[in-house]
Amino acid sequence: MRGFDAAGHTAAAGTRKDSVMTRKILVTSALPYANGAIHLGHLVEYIQTDIWVRFQKLRGHECWYVCADDTHGTPIMLRAEAEGISPEALIARVHAEHSRDFAGFHVAFDNYYTTHSDETRFYSEDIFAKLSAAGLIEVRSIEQYYDPLKKMFLPDRFIKGECPKCGTADQYGDACESCGAAYAPTDLKNPYSAVSGAAPVLKSSDHYFFKLSDPRCQAFLRQWTQEQERLQPEAANKLQEWLGVAGDNKLTDWDISRDAPYFGFEIPGEGGKGTGKFFYVWLDAPIGYMGSFKNFCAKKGLDFDEFWGKGATTELYHFIGKDILYFHALFWPAELEHAGYRTPTKVFAHGFLTVDGAKMSKSRGTFITAESYLTQGLNPEWLRYYFAAKLNGSMEDIDLNLDDFTQRVNSDLVGKYINIASRAAGFIAKRFGGALLHAHSNERFHADLPGIAAAAEEIAGYYEGRDSARALRRIMALADQINQYVDKNQPWQLAKSAEHEEQLHYVCTVLINAFRLLTVYIKPVLPKLAQRAEEFLNVAPLHWADAGHLLPPAHLINAYEHLMQRIDPKQIEALIAANRESLAPVAKPVVAAAEPHSPQRHAQHQQHSEDSVQAVANPWEPYASIDDFAKVDLRIARIADAQHVEGADKLIRLTLDLGEGAGKTRNVFAGIKSAYDPAQLVGRLTVMVANLAPRKMKFGLSEGMVLAASDADGKSPGLFLLSPDSGAQPGMKVK
Ligand code: 2FM
Ligand code: ZN
Repeated sequence: MRGFDAAGHTAAAGTRKDSVMTRKILVTSALPYANGAIHLGHLVEYIQTDIWVRFQKLRGHECWYVCADDTHGTPIMLRAEAEGISPEALIARVHAEHSRDFAGFHVAFDNYYTTHSDETRFYSEDIFAKLSAAGLIEVRSIEQYYDPLKKMFLPDRFIKGECPKCGTADQYGDACESCGAAYAPTDLKNPYSAVSGAAPVLKSSDHYFFKLSDPRCQAFLRQWTQEQERLQPEAANKLQEWLGVAGDNKLTDWDISRDAPYFGFEIPGEGGKGTGKFFYVWLDAPIGYMGSFKNFCAKKGLDFDEFWGKGATTELYHFIGKDILYFHALFWPAELEHAGYRTPTKVFAHGFLTVDGAKMSKSRGTFITAESYLTQGLNPEWLRYYFAAKLNGSMEDIDLNLDDFTQRVNSDLVGKYINIASRAAGFIAKRFGGALLHAHSNERFHADLPGIAAAAEEIAGYYEGRDSARALRRIMALADQINQYVDKNQPWQLAKSAEHEEQLHYVCTVLINAFRLLTVYIKPVLPKLAQRAEEFLNVAPLHWADAGHLLPPAHLINAYEHLMQRIDPKQIEALIAANRESLAPVAKPVVAAAEPHSPQRHAQHQQHSEDSVQAVANPWEPYASIDDFAKVDLRIARIADAQHVEGADKLIRLTLDLGEGAGKTRNVFAGIKSAYDPAQLVGRLTVMVANLAPRKMKFGLSEGMVLAASDADGKSPGLFLLSPDSGAQPGMKVK
C-alpha cells in the first residue's frame, strides 16, 4: 500500500515532467596540477560541482562527471627532477593522493583520469591538425630568456629580478608582488633564473601560435560569449572587455608550443616525425576533459560523439575558478569550434576562498590541505555543508570564517535537521515497536506542515541555478517550521498519558516523514549523512521524485543512532595548529614557480596554482646541499652608521664594518625601516651575507645583505635583525 501523496499537484507534475525529459549532461571540474596537494581552496570547486552533479542524478538525469590530473609542464618536470624521480613516477603518486583526497570529501567522479594518456594525446594531435588545416596555426620565431646553465627556456615565472617600476628585489617575470605592476620578463632589472640562479640570455626559437586574432575567431567569440547565458553576467562582461569593441581587435595569437626539455606531448611534424617542440600544458589540459570522457566511454559503452560531436544536443558544463576564465571562455571554445567539435553549453566560474577574511596563509595555518583536514578527524560533510551554504552561483569570493563554520554546522545540521529525527525516533522505537501510524491522512500532514512537501520544486530550482546557499536557507527554514511543530505538540508531554497515545504516534509519524523529505532535499550536499538517514528510515536510496509521496502507513523504521557529531572548537584549533606546525617559514623553493598563464592570472590570485601547493607537499624541498650552503659567506658585521634614505619608504642605509681594517666599510640598503629607527642601530652587531654580488639600486650600490627574521609571508608585523652572542667580533665567519 502506498502512503499519502505528499507533494500535491504542482510538485507531482514537476516530477513527472522531469522523468520524461531525461537530460544527458557531461560535467567537468578544472584539472588539478599533478604536483601538489589538494587544499581547501581547490575543494570549493569540487564540492560545488559534486553537489550539482549529485542533484542532477537524483533528478533522474544521465549526468557524468569527469576530471583528471593536469600532468604536463615545466614545474612538474622540475619537481620530479628535484625529487630524483621520473615525471611519470611523480604523477602516478600524486594521482593516488588526489584520488584519496577527493574520495575523502565524497567527490564522486565517474572518471578520474590523467592528461598523460593516449586519449588526450590523440585529441591534442587531432585538434592541432584540424586547426592547422583550417589555417589557424602559424609558426613564428620569438626571442625569450634562456638559462645557459640549465639549457632551457624559462617561463616568465622562472625568471626573477628587480621590479622595473618600484625596484623591489626578487620579483617574478610577469608581475610585481609589491607594487602590482605587470610587465614582460625582459623589463626586469638584473634578471636571474629561478632554476639555476644564472643570468638569462635572450635566444630565438620557433613557436606554434593559435591565431586567435583571426577574424573567424573574433567573430565567433563575440557571438558565443554573449549568447544563451553561456557565461555568468560578470564573466560575460569580462569577456567583452577582453574582446574589445568590434573592429578593434584586442585578441592576440596564443603561443601553444614549448621547447625541449619539457614534460608533455611532442608536436608531430611532417611524415610522422617529431618537431622537437611540445604542446604547452594549457593546450592539452582542457583536451584532458575529452580524454577522460573518451576513456570513460570505453569502459561504459557510451557514445563519445553524442557528447563531443559537432551539433551535439547533450549538455556540457565546465566548473572553473575565475582565474582560468580566459582559457575556458576564449581559447577553448575557439579551438573546439574550428576543429569541428561541439562547444561548452555553459562555463560556471566561482570565486576564491579566503579563511577568516584573508588569503589562505601557511604561517597562519589557514593553508589547510584536504589530507590534514581528514586526518585530524574532521567530518568532510561539515565542510561540504558550509561551502554549499556560501556558494550562490556567482563569481564572488567566499570566506570560511572558522567561528561561523562551527556555529553554523552545529546549529543548522545538528540543532535543526538531525534534531527532528532524534526527537521522534525514541518514541517510535519504544512505544510503537518501530512502526509508523497505520492510518493517516494526506491532507492532515499538509495542513500540519504546510509547504514542506511542495517546496521540492522551489529547492530544485535553486540547486539547478547553483544557488545552494538559497537551497539550504530554504531547507533550514523548513527545519525551523518542523521544530516549531514539535515545540507546539510537545511529544514528551503527550507521552505522559495513555490517552494521548494515538496523538503521540501521529506527531512522531509526521516528524519522521518530514525528516525524510528534508533528507531528500539535503542529499546532494550531504550524501553520506543521507545514506545513514536512509538506513535509519529503512528505505531504498532516495531520489528527488520521492519527495512526491510519504512513507507508507505502518512503515517500520530502524533504531536511531546519532547521525552527526557537533564540531568541537578544539578540533578547529588543532587543525590550524597542525597546518601551521608543518609549514614553518621557508624560502620559496625555486621549482615551485607556476607556469606562466595570462595577465589575468596573477600570482596573488592563484588558488589552483602549483606554486602554493608544492610548498605544502614538502616545504623543505628542494634541499640545499652543504656545497650550496658553503657558497654563502656569512660574517659578523658592526653597524658603524645608519641613515634614512631620502625618497625610500622601506630602506635604511647601513654602513657596515667587517673588520676589514683601514676604515674599509660596506654600504648596504636594508628594508628594515618599518621596524627600526636608524639611531637605535648604530654600534650593534649583526650578521651579513658578505659575498652577495653588489647590486646597483636607485639610491646607490648595495654591497651585501643583513639578515633579519620575519613571518613567512613577510606581512605580519615584526622584523627582527639577527645579533650574535656577546664576544663575537666583526669579520667572524658564521657557519
Ligand atoms: O589552474 C589549474 O589548476 C589548471 N591545472 C586547470 C586546468 S583546467 C583544464 F583546462 F584542464
Ligand atoms: Zn614593483
